[in-house]
Amino acid sequence: QTYPPFDFIIFGATGDLTIRKLIPALFYRYLDKQIPAETRIIGAARSALNDNDFRERARAGLNQFVQESDRDQEKIEAFIQQVHYVSLDGANANSNWSDLQNLLNGDKGNKIRIFYFATAPRLYGDICDNLSDKGLLTETTRVVLEKPIGTSLETAQEINRRVGKHLPENHIFRIDHYLGKETVQNIIALRFANPVFERLWNSDSIDYIQITAAETVGVGSRGGYYDGAGALRDMVQNHLLQVLCMVAMDPPISLNADDLRNEKLKVLRSLKPMTDEDIRTNTVRGQYQEGNKNGEKIPSYLEDLKKDSSDTETFIAIKAQINTARWSGVPFYLRTGKRMAEKTSEIVIQFKSSTWSLFPTSPEPNRLHIRIQPDEGVSLSLQVKDPSKSHTSLRSTFIDIDFSPTFHIRYPDSYEGLLMDAVRGDPLLFIRCDEVEAAWRWIEPILNGWSKGLTPMAKYKSGTWGPNEATELLAKDGHLWHEDM
Ligand code: BG6
Repeated sequence: QTYPPFDFIIFGATGDLTIRKLIPALFYRYLDKQIPAETRIIGAARSALNDNDFRERARAGLNQFVQESDRDQEKIEAFIQQVHYVSLDGANANSNWSDLQNLLNGDKGNKIRIFYFATAPRLYGDICDNLSDKGLLTETTRVVLEKPIGTSLETAQEINRRVGKHLPENHIFRIDHYLGKETVQNIIALRFANPVFERLWNSDSIDYIQITAAETVGVGSRGGYYDGAGALRDMVQNHLLQVLCMVAMDPPISLNADDLRNEKLKVLRSLKPMTDEDIRTNTVRGQYQEGNKNGEKIPSYLEDLKKDSSDTETFIAIKAQINTARWSGVPFYLRTGKRMAEKTSEIVIQFKSSTWSLFPTSPEPNRLHIRIQPDEGVSLSLQVKDPSKSHTSLRSTFIDIDFSPTFHIRYPDSYEGLLMDAVRGDPLLFIRCDEVEAAWRWIEPILNGWSKGLTPMAKYKSGTWGPNEATELLAKDGHLWHEDM
């Protein structure tokens, strides 16, 4: 396959995402020979840097965030020559746009041009207006919008409207890096290429589903952004709901982008709206407190933030329901948090037990465990005869597949594939405007309920699985979180 050259312009180029994720992802694709020599990666930000300064940052980032075995210095140097910088405030029409115009206007207007918005979302509309006014939007221009798209339904609609004024929907790529994760994409294969699962994928056979994205890190240097967002906006509105869509959607009529997105949209629209009573009983919000790991103190959220108080949640657990024939009565437990016991993103599908048992003790229900990260893989729990006991004794075991050793491949970072999809113009794994808005429609009442004080802030010790209230949320239904099973 040959790859056309392109210009990849990143607004917010001095931020964490660019150095930690975007440049390393493009470098990996360079190693895979998908970045032709005429491709340029152009960082744009307000800081007064020149090409060399920015290359120095990119080089340092590559030497930190690319796997050690892939840090070939000669290749890094060759790649870095394709990296440029313009000092520009994209949201300001009076900023110095001429450097970017000069760089870009050299081509004949048919080179693929990607503008990646890695700034605060409230600037997306202004940046787009300016790109249009400065004559930088060509027929082959696509914009990639980093999440979160807005902070509420209204702000998301405003971003969609303002960006949509200048570009058709199929040139707007709203990125959610969870859809770039191999194991999230694999849900489609697991479900729709294995009738053995899809036939059981409904409320007749499934008892409940858990989706967890647990992190061990705290807010780090992102406290300024995070304290205004919180876990619900940062993780649930986008990543967790997208994973939920992949798990819960009906089979799309094809693998065409709109067919897939129509099915995801149906899930989002079928989420049972949260009443005040649901918010009180079915949501848990928490904030991490001081903890201890291997004898070392882990600071609290407030210490990380250097603030005396904050009403922002760093943990959330929600019991959600989907109002469709397929999912009627099946709880979907969603959970995410910072400074938890382990870094793990996973889906647990708990099947129903049989109502009748041949054995003296009821067999454990079957469970499908999809590991999104780390150790991408899938396992299915099974009951077998306990070889050390009588013929009526059962024991639980697993069929377990670890994808990476099975396929002898490196599992790419989620941004790699998505960035190249945007270059190729394939929107399959990007979020359509109506999906973003439907997700906000479900999230917003929870935010409003919390601001009315319906759900008190629970506390949890750093390095644990979250507050006790999260355990109680499942215990009320007679269920356990995966780590307690
Ligand atoms: C980002 C959030 O979208 O996802 C971060 O803004 C979070 O707060 C990150 O740490 C988690 O991504 P991953 O791929 O490490 O699970």
